[in-house]
Amino acid sequence: MRRSLLRWYRRNRRRLPWRERPSPYRTWISEVMLQQTQVATVLPYFERFLRRFPDLPALARAREAEVLRLWAGLGYYSRARNLLAAARRIASEHAGRIPEDLAALRSLPGFGRYTAAAIASIAFRKPHELVDGNVARVLCRAFAVFGDPSRKPASERVWELARELLARRAPGDWNQALMELGALVCRPDAPLCGDCPWRAHCRAFARGLQDELPESGRRSATLPVAVEALLLRRGDKVLLWRRSDQERLLPRHWSLPETRHVPAGTAGPELCRLRHSITRHRITLTLRAGSLPPGPIPAAARWVPAERLPDYLVSSLWRKAVDRAAVLPIG
Ligand code: ADE
Repeated sequence: MRRSLLRWYRRNRRRLPWRERPSPYRTWISEVMLQQTQVATVLPYFERFLRRFPDLPALARAREAEVLRLWAGLGYYSRARNLLAAARRIASEHAGRIPEDLAALRSLPGFGRYTAAAIASIAFRKPHELVDGNVARVLCRAFAVFGDPSRKPASERVWELARELLARRAPGDWNQALMELGALVCRPDAPLCGDCPWRAHCRAFARGLQDELPESGRRSATLPVAVEALLLRRGDKVLLWRRSDQERLLPRHWSLPETRHVPAGTAGPELCRLRHSITRHRITLTLRAGSLPPGPIPAAARWVPAERLPDYLVSSLWRKAVDRAAVLPIG
């Protein structure tokens, strides 16, 4: 399996600037840009960045604002801030040379398990295995690993396989070959098994499981949230609540007050219960009647005439609740 994949990589790899003219610095910049970002997007950013900051001392001298400007559009800006912080640390603590040792790399800002192993293996030929999304997919299929590879225990099995398989004499090529196979052949959808150097070895292919593996944990990534809200009325008016920007759910929105927002004893009998999803939040909303104690209302509260509720309540969570309680049908 080692020989067939390395041969495939040498014939089929993409000719990328950080591969054709490698240096530890260029490898590092490319690996950081390639986290969460596709090769085609990275290419022009890489060229521009290297033109402006051709080596580590140039980057270590940079102002953060300029690094961020060159990063604009790539997203995940903590990557750029960590890059600059690490460059400054390397300049001051390692005489401007990127360390070769895995533990020294891991201690730098922005260097996780993957990035440290990528630089140690690709730039310095150190025998360290690595796993990114592409490698995880390839290994889950090739060895029929079930379970979500972004979580234990499947993630541990995948790292273990990567360690056992590592071609120790060419760790950089080997790691890049696994990633390249994932990017070009063993793709997430409709893998090109006909072109795969591992077709004869692949356990998923043998069992027709290449479209089922790897298993995704996406479905279980939802967060159940219980919300208890109050329908407080005075004449034809309803009490609304302006949510602070600290709220996890719908910050700065107008909403109905939640029981936790108002003094104890305000909540009365249950009116209705409904379910609603907002991004990953699976909300169960219990709506209760109630009455406020006498006195001034809290600063975040406002009495709003029922017919004006549609102007205030933007999220369909609150619209549904008010609709269900038949305050006023909201269109
Ligand atoms: N993704 C991140 N780094 C890569 C590399 N060196 N080769 C292929 N794909 C990658």
